[in-house]
Amino acid sequence: MIGTDLAQAATLLRQGKLVGIPTETVYGLAANALDAQAIASIYAAKNRPSFNPLIVHVPSLTAISTYAQHVPQELMDIAQAFWPGAVSILVEKSNQVPDVVTAGSDKVVLRMPKHPLTLELLQMLNFPLAAPSANISNTVSPTTARHVEEGLGNQIPYILDGGSCAVGVESTIVGYENETVVILREGGVSREDILAKTGIETMPSSEQTIQSPGQLKKHYSTQKPLYLVKSIDDYIASHSNQSFSALLYEQREVNAATHLLSENYNLGEIANNLFATMRAADQDNTDAILIEPIREEGIGRAVADRLRRAATQGC
Ligand code: TXA
Ligand code: MG
Repeated sequence: MIGTDLAQAATLLRQGKLVGIPTETVYGLAANALDAQAIASIYAAKNRPSFNPLIVHVPSLTAISTYAQHVPQELMDIAQAFWPGAVSILVEKSNQVPDVVTAGSDKVVLRMPKHPLTLELLQMLNFPLAAPSANISNTVSPTTARHVEEGLGNQIPYILDGGSCAVGVESTIVGYENETVVILREGGVSREDILAKTGIETMPSSEQTIQSPGQLKKHYSTQKPLYLVKSIDDYIASHSNQSFSALLYEQREVNAATHLLSENYNLGEIANNLFATMRAADQDNTDAILIEPIREEGIGRAVADRLRRAATQGC
């Protein structure tokens, strides 16, 4: 069921049940992060491999000291600058955090989401919420309550409806390696944003967030093939026996079913519309989806990352 009843969402979560929650990035599939059994049901509902750990959503900055220890000052500074907001920190976990949440790792990812309903929900509870994106593993992430229902509706009792997500791609995950802040996943807060607001330079991480190699290929995938092509026009011209949907960064004419991600190549708008537009193109009566590489700056890097993972290989 979809609704806006916070009391009902809180009751279900206290009972160890799953609830779909809105955040500013994408919808999450939430459960009590301190309840190992509730966590197990997240993995089952999403069909998520048990080695892929979950982000723990907290109501405040002060919660960091409850669920983490030895947090580097730079990561505290970043949390302070952006929370609530689309950046998550990878830090050493405290013994409050059960091993199932981190898939056995001694580090946990913490995040304070920026959505009024979910922040209020977190305040009502005396436990944090573990929440991966509320989609079946490897499918397109959800940015509306309806998307959550389409994928997981028959497995979860309640979806809290907070409207369309304001950012539209997942949070940026930052960690700390060799005295340096590193980015493990590009997301809603760009490295330019971090530098401008905190003066902290970031580096790409030498580790990736945990993904099995086999999964990488299929991550964020649409049902029909999505091809990341140099030129949509050239691709269409040389594949005249097929029909295409085209995702465009600005208004122009192409010989395909077109979906505009932005009128004028606005990167924030493109990120915001990306997942919903991929879903819409999947519904067209066409053979495949075409998109060109995006300008890799600011939040465009997060879009580029999602497109590389969504794209069908070997085209
Ligand atoms: O914006 C977001 O971060 C959304 C919303 C719902 O908060 N959540 C989200 O969760 O994107 P998920 O599970 O789809 O992606 C979390 C990523 C995964 O790649 C996972 O491997 C990584 O974070 N991760 C989580 N905990 C980790 C840990 N302890 N160590 C390394 N990677 C971790
Ligand atoms: Mg996800």
